Amino acid sequence: MNRILISPSILSANFGNLASDIAAVEKGGADLLHLDVMDGHFVPSISFGPPIVAAASKLTSLPLDTHLMVKNPENCLEEFQKAGAGYLTVHAEACVHLHRTISVIRSLGMKPGVALNPATPIGVLEEILPLVDLVLVMSVNPGYWGQPFIPESVEKISKLKKMIDTKKLPTRIEVDGGIDASVVDRVVQAGADILVASKAIFSSSDVKKAVERLKNQANKGQRKL
Ligand code: DX5
Ligand code: ZN
Repeated sequence: MNRILISPSILSANFGNLASDIAAVEKGGADLLHLDVMDGHFVPSISFGPPIVAAASKLTSLPLDTHLMVKNPENCLEEFQKAGAGYLTVHAEACVHLHRTISVIRSLGMKPGVALNPATPIGVLEEILPLVDLVLVMSVNPGYWGQPFIPESVEKISKLKKMIDTKKLPTRIEVDGGIDASVVDRVVQAGADILVASKAIFSSSDVKKAVERLKNQANKGQRKL
């Protein structure tokens, strides 16, 4: 069984001193760095775009786990590749031609992911599951950090895990939204491979320790299985 990976989202980091926050999560053992790109259309808020991704890529050697919450992501794939994105995840709800978008991401040398909003059933993945490296299960409605975890996400992760195992695929399940110590065990036992967290890490007075704690808990929970 794979080790559970931690992907801190910089959405609630200190943008005035991103370098020190990124260094702290690296020291804490982060495996990926999660970058939440929001366009003010697909989701109500606007966060940042390729320039911050490019800046982050100069500050860390962690793979950049880039989560595009944008309409028509097909128009900006190359820009994110140039900025240094390693994983590029698009929302199924934002893509009319999801298959094509995923193929282009792969052809640009990035690892494609597909994200599902809480109300989107996993059935939309049936045909494209073999083509993606990860499925990002949103456990809040996207747009803001610091929202409470939606408990129904646990059942969705279990169903997705079964679908992946039945097809004998290596696809990873990433869970994003409201992840903290109170839900880690449940999502890991349901089948999550990558945990995204923003508030639980950057609202802590010790960012490095917060990553260590989350990672230890996730991997301890896994051994109980
Ligand atoms: C939500 C973003 C998440 C968010 C997670 O729209 O996709 O990555 O930053 O933040 P927390 O962990 O605070 O819910
Ligand atoms: Zn995200």
